[in-house]
Amino acid sequence: MMRREPPGRDQPSLGRARVAASILDADLGNLAHAVKRAEREGADRIHLDVMDGHFVPNLTFGAKTIKALRRRTRIPFDAHLMIANPGRYIEEFLEAGCDSVTIHVEIEEPIEPTLQAIRAAGRAAGLCVKPKTPLTALEPYRPLLDIVMVMTVEPGFGGQSFMTDVARAKLLQARDYLSHKLHGGEIHVDGGVNRETAELVGGLGVDILVVGSALWLKGRDMAREVRLIRALADEGYQYGLNKGVPPIPRDRMVTFATLRRPGARRLREEVEAAGIPVLLFRSREDPAEMDDEIRRWDLLVPASAEKVARERFGRRARSLAKAESESGIAGAAGAAPASAPSAS
Ligand code: DX5
Ligand code: ZN
Repeated sequence: MMRREPPGRDQPSLGRARVAASILDADLGNLAHAVKRAEREGADRIHLDVMDGHFVPNLTFGAKTIKALRRRTRIPFDAHLMIANPGRYIEEFLEAGCDSVTIHVEIEEPIEPTLQAIRAAGRAAGLCVKPKTPLTALEPYRPLLDIVMVMTVEPGFGGQSFMTDVARAKLLQARDYLSHKLHGGEIHVDGGVNRETAELVGGLGVDILVVGSALWLKGRDMAREVRLIRALADEGYQYGLNKGVPPIPRDRMVTFATLRRPGARRLREEVEAAGIPVLLFRSREDPAEMDDEIRRWDLLVPASAEKVARERFGRRARSLAKAESESGIAGAAGAAPASAPSAS
C-alpha cells in the first residue's frame, strides 16, 4: 500500500474546483482595487478579458494594464485574448506576467506559433472555443494545449445567460483534448457561471470556473459567493462523476517514494520529465539531526497524479530503493532501509 502523508504536511484542503474572477464587470476605474479585493475575498485567480473591438464587438484593456495590475496581487493571472491578432502582441502579454494565455481557435492567423511562444515562456497555453465552434477545431493543436476553455456565452460581454446545451455538449468531452497531460491540464468554463450553474459544470469535470458579474453585484458578499460556487462545483463533481466520493483536493500532495538523496533526485528528474511535479522533503522517519546526504527523502507528488505516477514509476522507485539497500550506505548510522511503493 502507498504510504499516506502524515497530517500537517497537507495543504489546507480546498477541494477540486477553482474560481477565476473575471474583472470585466468590476469597477473599470479602479481595477487595482478590484484585483486586490478578489484576492482578499478568496478568488483563486484573476481572469483578464482582453478585447479588440474586432474579434468581438467590445473593447477592454491590453498588456500594459495587465502589467500594472500584476504588482497588486500575488494570485495567478489567466489572460483570455479575444483579439484577432494575438501573435502580434503575445510577447507583451507574456512580459506583463500572465501565468496562462488563452487565445481563440476561430482567429484567422496561424495559431501554432503563438501557442509555442506561450509554452516557451514557461506559461500555460490555452485555446478557447465560442459556443458555435465544435471542439474538433482544436484537434490540430492538441499536443500544444495546457488549457481548453469552453465559452458558454457569446464572447464580448459579462452578465449573459449560461448556455446549458453547450456546456453539456462540450465540457466533458473537452478533456479528450488534454489526454497528453498526465497532470495539470485544465478545462475552463467561461460565461454565465454563478451559483445556479456551478453544480452542473462541476458535474461535467470542469477545473476552473470563470466567474464575472456574479461576483461584482452590489452588496454581494464576494468571499461567500466564491466559497459557494467552489463547493457547488465540487458537489457536482462528487455526485456527477465520482460515484459519491469527495474529490481529491487539487493541491494535496502525497508521498510516493522515500529514497536517499541521489536516488531521490534521479527519480524526481524522471517523473518531472513526464509532466508530474515532484517535491522533495526530508523524511520524518529519520532523525532530525541526521546528515542530509545519508538521511532519506520523501518524494511527494500531487494526490491527483498518484495513480499514474505509481503506474509509470513504481517499478523504477522500487529498483532504486533496492539498489540503495544493497549499497554500502544502506543501514549507515542505523537508518532504516529506503522504501518505495509496493507493487499494485
Ligand atoms: C465574456 C468574457 C467572460 C465574462 C464572464 O466575453 O469572456 O470572461 O467576463 O462574465 P459572466 O460571468 O458575467 O458571464
Ligand atoms: Zn473570459
